[in-house]
Order: sequence, then C-alpha cells, then structure tokens
Amino acid sequence: MPNPVVITHPLVQHKLTLLRDKRTHSKDFRELINEVAMLMCYEATRDLPLKEVEVETPMGRAKTKVLSGRKLAFVPILRAGLGMCDGMLRLVPAAKVGHIGIYRDPETHLPVDYYCKLPGDIDQRLVILLDPMLATGGSAVDAVTSLKERGAKNIRFVSILSAPEGIEALTAAHPDVPIYTAAVDSHLDENKYIIPGLGDAGDRIFGTK
Ligand code: PRP
Ligand code: URA
Repeated sequence: MPNPVVITHPLVQHKLTLLRDKRTHSKDFRELINEVAMLMCYEATRDLPLKEVEVETPMGRAKTKVLSGRKLAFVPILRAGLGMCDGMLRLVPAAKVGHIGIYRDPETHLPVDYYCKLPGDIDQRLVILLDPMLATGGSAVDAVTSLKERGAKNIRFVSILSAPEGIEALTAAHPDVPIYTAAVDSHLDENKYIIPGLGDAGDRIFGTK
C-alpha cells in the first residue's frame, strides 16, 4: 500500500474544492468536513477483515459476511478533528470515541498537549486518528505517541489535507501508521500554514476568529 494513500475519488475531490474556497462559510464548511470524512472512512476501512456467516433471509438461507477483526475507535485531535467525527460515526456507529487535545503554540508552532481521554480497551481496537490538517506533523506525531503510550497498537491517520513536511515527519516518527489524505499540497508558509491549503480548519469549522 502506498503511504500516503491519496483518496482521489471524484466526490472527495469536488467537496475538497468547496472546502478550500474562502467563500464557504461555517455551516457549509462543517457539513462538507463531515461528508469528506465519511467518504474517507469508506476508503480507510476498505481492507477490514470479514468472516463468513449464515443468515435466514425471507427467502431462505444465505452465506454472507460480517466484520471479523478488531473493533474501531475514532480519536479526533481537538479541535478540528471533532469536525470529522460525526461523518465517521455515520458509517461505523458502534465505534467508540476518544479525544486528544493538542494545539500549536502560535510562536513556536510546536504542539502543546492539554487533554487525553481514550476508551479503556484502546489496546484491543483499530484506532482511526482524525485531524483535517497535517501541516508540520507535530500534532499528529504527538497524538500517535500518546496513543501508543496508552497501549494502542493499530493506528491509522486520516487527514483531509497534508503538507509534504507533515507526511515526512509522521512517516519518520511512526512508519507503522498509514496516512489517508485527500490531497498533498505544495508547502508550508512562514507561519506553518499549508499552501494553498484551506486556512485554519478549527476556525472555519467553529466560526472563531
Ligand atoms: C491545527 C490542526 C492540527 C494542527 C496541524 O490545529 O487541526 O491539529 O493545527 O498542524 P501541525 O501538523 O503543524 O501540528 P490547531 O493547533 O490550529 O488547534 P485547533 O484545532 O484547536 O484550532
Ligand atoms: N492548521 C490549520 O488549521 N491549517 C493549516 O494550514 C495548518 C495548520
């Protein structure tokens, strides 16, 4: 599997264009983030193992399939990752949800951890870590480290938009974590924002600033 997996599905790419557009305001932005997350969830779970079962249909017995592997946990990185969580849960409503709070220091651009609450059986679950933006990679590297310190062994990272710098940093620190993204942009600016990007994801989701 290539790393990152770039999700080129036309619906994802179309919605990503709407997300990038500065004329898209919070209500639509929030809906689009969830819709893209739902479509990305479909791709990020494409290889989940199945086992054969039999069920009784109204017409007779059918050999059919159900998920057989680890149960899922979605872990959004606060704040912006929260925007993706409902979309994911729409596809996997039985998943548990953990939260990791991290913000980037505005001066140093380094991640600052402020919260972590995970399901007690996180070591038994396939963890899908959520953040719409992978910029320097500092937040994602930190979040994966926190997850591993608490026992998580199977982690996937889903990020709507990535910078090459972030992909390099996350892959170097945690080569076992596959990255799913909808686009890899050109570079970071002097404030470590993704160019051309979509701006500040948290501010656009929650209408702050
Ligand atoms: C944004 C984004 C990521 C992080 C990415 O969060 O949601 O968590 O920046 O940048 P990095 O790859 O350079 O670490 P931000 O710090 O703006 O916090 P917020 O979601 O609370 O607004
Ligand atoms: N965080 C964001 O929300 N946007 C960026 O471009 C970089 C980090």
